[in-house]
Amino acid sequence: MALIIKSDFARDDIWRDAFNAVAPDLDCRSWQSPGDLADIEYAFVWKPEKGGLRRFPNLKCIFSIGAGVDHLLGDEGLPEGVPVVRMVEPELTRGMAEYVALHVLRCHREVPTLEQAQRDRVWNELIVPTAPDRRVGIMGFGVLGQASAQALSAFGFDLACWSRTEKAFPGGQSFHGAEGLKPFLGRTEILVCLLPLTPETEGILNRDLFAALPRGAWLINAARGGHQNEDDILEALESGQLVGATLDVFRKEPLPADHPFWSHPRVTVTAHIASVTQPRSAAAEVVANIRRIEQGAAPLHTVNIKAGY
Ligand code: NAP
Ligand code: GLV
Repeated sequence: MALIIKSDFARDDIWRDAFNAVAPDLDCRSWQSPGDLADIEYAFVWKPEKGGLRRFPNLKCIFSIGAGVDHLLGDEGLPEGVPVVRMVEPELTRGMAEYVALHVLRCHREVPTLEQAQRDRVWNELIVPTAPDRRVGIMGFGVLGQASAQALSAFGFDLACWSRTEKAFPGGQSFHGAEGLKPFLGRTEILVCLLPLTPETEGILNRDLFAALPRGAWLINAARGGHQNEDDILEALESGQLVGATLDVFRKEPLPADHPFWSHPRVTVTAHIASVTQPRSAAAEVVANIRRIEQGAAPLHTVNIKAGY
């Protein structure tokens, strides 16, 4: 049983060690020297070159190293009929819940204002609403959106979610579909984007969407740069429609050195690290899925190629 690995940041060796620890029988090969291509039954990849997966005639399943699969579905040369599995693993989920809780609290408690007050040596006895009076909205209510909502519910925030299909959300208000978007936005002071990037969601964080938020809202985008219109974010910050933006993802990554976000006083930039797939926990999940396939069961967390996520 051979698994081809194509990872980022030259992490192939780390991944090979993680797979060896849980599945010594798995023959891990590297993208650069795969050996006999017919041996490869599984692929574990991040941003493989377009058409590159077609080289393997006996592929049974393609595992994405990340939760997002836009790096794969944009490839017209993706082998047909081979299931694509997105990454669902506990530490990636935990990391995103941490990031969202950290940045929602930062917006809620107006930390940037307090930091500026300290720089100005101003004793600012800032009073903010209590969490139950702060309305947080999560766009995308899948694995990461739900875990983030659970983390935020511990503080008692007034929560709402927005998804493509109807979702039960006992901890808050649930909106879905195009008709649910405006009412969802209209009650959202801190907006968290955790959508997948698909043809439907591309560019969704734009001027029209910001205009539907209450004036002075916050934006947190931990999903994909392709969701955001960056000029519209700058314009909304300028007009006061948005009071601040926390952005982990960008149209162009790494964010170019001359991009206005770097020095904008009300933008927080992080370098696409909201949450990172962790080798130990992820390898265990992938191997469990491979064992399922070997026993004739369908893999878990397969992507709906038509829906794009
Ligand atoms: P997921 O479980 O597939 O959940 C996706 C959610 O988005 C679902 O609730 C889905 O609705 C909703 N959705 C999809 N298309 C929609 C549309 N057109 N309108 C409204 N809602 C829509 O995905 P996940 O595991 O939570 O991951 C979400 C995304 O986070 C990934 O795709 C990736 O881009 C991003 N991510 C970023 C980082 C980072 O470090 N920045 C790390 C990991 C992941 P339904 O529930 O109705 O299907
Ligand atoms: C990271 O961006 C991921 O999709 O897991």
